[in-house]
Amino acid sequence: MTPALETAWQALRAHAGQIRPLHLRALFAGDTGRFEAFSLAHGDLLLDFSKQRLTAGTLAHLHALAEAADVSGWRRKMWAGDIINHTEGRAVRHVALRAPDAEAPPEVVRTRQRLRDFCDAIHTGKRRGHTDAPFTDVVNLGIGGSDLGPRMAAHALRAFRRPGLSAHFVSNIDGADLLPLLQRLNPATTLFIVASKTFGTQETLANASSALAWLRARVPAEKAGEIAARHFVAVSSNLEAAAAFGIPPEQVFGFQDWVGGRFSLWSPVGLVLALAIGFPQFEALLAGAHAMDLHFLCAPPRENLPLTLALLDVWNVNGLHAQNHAFFPYSQSLELFPVYLQQLEMESAGKSVDRQGARCAYATAPIVWGSAGTNGQHSFFQLLHQGNQLVPCDFLLLGRPDFPLPGHHAQIIANALAQSAALAFGQTGEEARAAGIPEHLVPYRTFPGNQPSTTLVLDRLTPHSLGQLLALYEHKVFCLGVLWNLNAFDQWGVELGKQMAKSILPHLTGGAPDTAALDASTRGLLRALGKSSQPG
Ligand code: F6P
Repeated sequence: MTPALETAWQALRAHAGQIRPLHLRALFAGDTGRFEAFSLAHGDLLLDFSKQRLTAGTLAHLHALAEAADVSGWRRKMWAGDIINHTEGRAVRHVALRAPDAEAPPEVVRTRQRLRDFCDAIHTGKRRGHTDAPFTDVVNLGIGGSDLGPRMAAHALRAFRRPGLSAHFVSNIDGADLLPLLQRLNPATTLFIVASKTFGTQETLANASSALAWLRARVPAEKAGEIAARHFVAVSSNLEAAAAFGIPPEQVFGFQDWVGGRFSLWSPVGLVLALAIGFPQFEALLAGAHAMDLHFLCAPPRENLPLTLALLDVWNVNGLHAQNHAFFPYSQSLELFPVYLQQLEMESAGKSVDRQGARCAYATAPIVWGSAGTNGQHSFFQLLHQGNQLVPCDFLLLGRPDFPLPGHHAQIIANALAQSAALAFGQTGEEARAAGIPEHLVPYRTFPGNQPSTTLVLDRLTPHSLGQLLALYEHKVFCLGVLWNLNAFDQWGVELGKQMAKSILPHLTGGAPDTAALDASTRGLLRALGKSSQPG
């Protein structure tokens, strides 16, 4: 850590000691300019962070930290294609995937054209299944970044879906994900996309093999050989493995290793989405993300939305000691956003070893969770209002509804605004009494408040605005990596469990009866599952 950074952290910690005891009521008292001072707008987005527990002084400390951590220098490195993912020896260039054709790398432009042509061929019926019937269903077989982004975006943009082609998503290795779907599909009119950056992910390969077997069993024997070529395409950066699976090279849409899985929606991983909403709408999504890229690149720090979001996280985690962060989209169409965000944020910043290989002496990524409002209000919001955990929240609201029904939009907005205000300001015992609450119930009807939140307003939910929103959070995560001195682009933490699953599998399939090398719990569970008769 440089001396300047050390100083900035120390100053922030000392300042946090002064701010922690303050209540949001006090911060808002007599204040007329708080919203103006602590809100930003860009494109289709408004960011109100006035209900965060901070002052103008806090912001000054946070920006000093960003400067000492050299966020702008790291941003330059990312844009220049430097190897900033040092543990995997890779550049991080997903922003290149949404650059306009004139500015994007030639291989990106070529792949984009192939995707455009492919979508066109499917939509116009130029490309058909083995009986010559047009495709009616497309199934994306992928997991993690090869599933969460397109699944979330396809759901978010369901108002833009093209008729005639239904998109489905299968990620889990549990047969209960794939089989019930296959039972509803027509093999003659179903297209499968095997989406796997590495083409080595167990879940995706198992689902792809089962889908292929299902298809082969349902076509005349003379067509079985060509079925993979007619009904399967692959999306991967491992072209050899896709070819080995039987998908011809002209049906493999490749992308580069400088695209991280959780940042890959903009790559051919977005194919299922492009098929669902049409390529022009997919391009609008790319354009929205590009607009946010330009904002992130050019806006001064204090007007910079992604940097501001990241600094708020640092403040809540390192200043106020929050250990989790809840995200509440008050939009049913965005209900999958928290799940998408969990991978984006926790796979990126859920680390405790810094870029120099040393253990971080400070807290890093909080646990991200959440669900759509208003549903959560009737479930876990009790804990937010009267439990004893600090839970910073992000509320996301749409300025205009994507599915208008008389009266509904006003009600969902009223609920979102009410919740963030109730969480911030609570209700004192005196207020409860004044509202007529009987004395013996006053302790139960008191709300401590002081739960901080940020409210994001997305003017309308369109491909373009969704692109802005997703790029906003991607860049926030980039900033967090810099601020916490982490490599936000590797994910070694997922490997150990994968390897152990490989060594446990033979015990379940009869290939390795000797369980002596396993721990007592695993041995006991295998016995209970009837897979081993050996004594513990
Ligand atoms: O196991 C984690 C992970 O590697 C994620 O980072 C990735 O998004 C996901 O698995 C799927 O990987 P792939 O696209 O290579 O199948």
